[in-house]
Amino acid sequence: MPATVVVGAQWGDEGKGKIANLLAQEADVVVRYQGGNNAGHTIVIGEETFALSLIPSGVIYPNVTPVIGNGCVVDPAVLLKEMEMLRSRGIDTSHLKLSTNAHLIMPYHRKLDAVRERYLGKQQIGTTKRGIGPAYLDKFARVGIRVQDLYDPGIFRDKLEAVVKETNKVLVKIYNQLAFDPEEIAVEYLGYAERLSAYVADTALFVWEAIRAGKNVIFEGAQGVMLDIDHGTYPFVTSSNPTSGGALTGVGVGPRDIDRVLGLTKAYVSRVGTGPFPTELSDDIGETMVRVGGEYGTVTGRRRRCGWLDSVALRYAVRVGGITELALMKLDVLSEFDTVRIATAYLSEGTTYPEFPRQQGVLYHCTPIYEDHPGWAVDISAVRNWDDLPATARTYVERVEQLAGVPIRLISVGPQRSATFEKP
Ligand code: GDP
Ligand code: IMO
Ligand code: MG
Repeated sequence: MPATVVVGAQWGDEGKGKIANLLAQEADVVVRYQGGNNAGHTIVIGEETFALSLIPSGVIYPNVTPVIGNGCVVDPAVLLKEMEMLRSRGIDTSHLKLSTNAHLIMPYHRKLDAVRERYLGKQQIGTTKRGIGPAYLDKFARVGIRVQDLYDPGIFRDKLEAVVKETNKVLVKIYNQLAFDPEEIAVEYLGYAERLSAYVADTALFVWEAIRAGKNVIFEGAQGVMLDIDHGTYPFVTSSNPTSGGALTGVGVGPRDIDRVLGLTKAYVSRVGTGPFPTELSDDIGETMVRVGGEYGTVTGRRRRCGWLDSVALRYAVRVGGITELALMKLDVLSEFDTVRIATAYLSEGTTYPEFPRQQGVLYHCTPIYEDHPGWAVDISAVRNWDDLPATARTYVERVEQLAGVPIRLISVGPQRSATFEKP
């Protein structure tokens, strides 16, 4: 049975929750490898909708072990609330596993996220203000606090005191904020420790053993390649690696443990927050994409910016994301349009860029070169196999596949798990 990584190939919200949940039907383990509760993954099952931020989308199946890997940053209050929400809806969360090495999001991380954004003014990133960036910053500065520290209260208090002492100086002197009391935080977090202790595990070992035993493991990414800290549109990115490379370090497996990397792309593009977006539309077409696609953030409720599919960025995401095949999501949304466009290159100051430009400034000033395709202008949300798609839709999909450079294996035409079919 394969180990599959599910990666967003755009700026997030491609439908990772839906696809990870779909694949989880036949999986044994679903593991999140990066990000935290900046993610919002929606699963629609019958009349029920679940919005998950931390717990992997496989949790709803009793046969699946949901795992939060070491590459994630975890706000324990949010995790406990999410578990409570699931339990109240009849879903057992007792089999969840939380990495001892995952870093904790602390109250001062959330505060720093908010004040730094305010400080940046017009240059702000538009973060989710969940403390994600500051938590990863502390991880790399080697002053982060890990899940395992909670179970050694002496060490926990020592580390907390040191980091809060320094952070308070920054908060008070630079940002004019109130100082945090480390003891208050210690009491709060040691309370979480008690409630979480049953779930804490050596998740790297657990996943390794599952792979060795031939189990089916899904690695569920958050965000998307274009939000990757190394390969995305820096600094308008998140502070982790959503690419498949991040799946390796974020779980503790090697490249040979992965069989396939399924990239997800919508049939158009959306983006929340600031940053360059060459195919963004600020006209009625973009508005229609927002309305029909329901493009409002799962986490913050913000309106997502929308535009035509950008095959330059997609080809780049396939390359740096290590994507071996694609799922084309939300194809139904394009039924609204008589003509559907795909950007095939960028044009800037007389230069054509068929590949993603190495100099990011180009993204701000370029004009996308579009290829127009006749639309299908009929509702395709009930289509359940390739042959039943209108010919114009099939031509469009085949063209996206050709431009992306890897096969499109799955097509999604609605939020329901069942609104998905394979492309032969
Ligand atoms: P994620 O963050 O990648 O898991 O994606 P989100 O859940 O934030 O956003 C995707 C949204 O599109 C959710 O509301 C899904 O229910 C919905 N969705 C997923 N696939 C499709 C599809 O094929 N068509 C339509 N119309 N909606 C979809
Ligand atoms: P899912 O997993 C879309 C964006 C934020 C902001 C930038 C940095 O649902 O696809 P952060 O809080 O991470 O420091 O914010 O990244 N962002 C997302 N956009 N979907 C997400 O997750 C996102 N997670 C973060 O809007 O622009
Ligand atoms: Mg989302």
